[in-house]
Amino acid sequence: MSKAKKSYARITTASLQEMKANGEKIAMLTAYDYTLASLVDQAGVDVILVGDSASNVIAGHETTLPITLDQMIYHASSVVRAAKRALIVVDLPFGTYQSDSKEALRSAIRIMKESGAHAVKVEGGEQVKTSIERIVQAGIPVMGHLGLTPQSIYKFGTYTVRAREQKEAKQLIEDAILLEKLGCFGMVLEKIPAELAQQVAQKVRIPVIGIGAGGHVDGQVLVLHDMLGMTKEFSPRFLRRYLDLDTKIRTAIGQYTQDVKNQDFPNEQEKY
Ligand code: KIV
Repeated sequence: MSKAKKSYARITTASLQEMKANGEKIAMLTAYDYTLASLVDQAGVDVILVGDSASNVIAGHETTLPITLDQMIYHASSVVRAAKRALIVVDLPFGTYQSDSKEALRSAIRIMKESGAHAVKVEGGEQVKTSIERIVQAGIPVMGHLGLTPQSIYKFGTYTVRAREQKEAKQLIEDAILLEKLGCFGMVLEKIPAELAQQVAQKVRIPVIGIGAGGHVDGQVLVLHDMLGMTKEFSPRFLRRYLDLDTKIRTAIGQYTQDVKNQDFPNEQEKY
């Protein structure tokens, strides 16, 4: 069983490497705004991901594709102001790093400079190799992301488990090794068979963070709004809901509405 082996005042990419070496599991969650990022940070999460899932969770889009670099920087800046301990990783949004490596570097620099975040995340392996190379060479820490990469949803056509077939699994292992070779400090593996994820985590020295990739990896990530039970339309097997915030929030707001209508709010003590 993994437990905290050392206390860290501030998590760095080196701390994550150390956690993997010590067998301490890494806890990562998404956050997109100041208030929730403060709570996530205070609760002791190691890595806050300003995910492009903000496109779904915050903006209500069907996919992660529409979110822009400016919008990601806005979310990341709010999270940076909140977090005192966690390492903050920001997704490079779709269309800002795939076409050429110079554009990729410009996008990564904008995120680092304008938000104050600590690292960026990109989806893909071999196909984004030159982009990763250039960003890493500029001194910006990069996290990879393989498996069910949501920016490629129209290529996959489905949100089902990836790399069940041998050919895709072999490619994923090659891509994971490549990410390490390119200098990525870690990677996310999303929705792939647990056995394959375990194999990858054993093959590479950098931390492997899973989402729907089983327990034999170096850490776990979930989308905050999903694990708090604020989103109900999405129920994959890997999603553990730690709260039923959806019901709690609707009950509280319903009560407030009733109190206003019944003139129970404000009362004598609540006025000046
Ligand atoms: O954008 C996101 O939230 C992510 C996680 C699902 C890993 O990339």
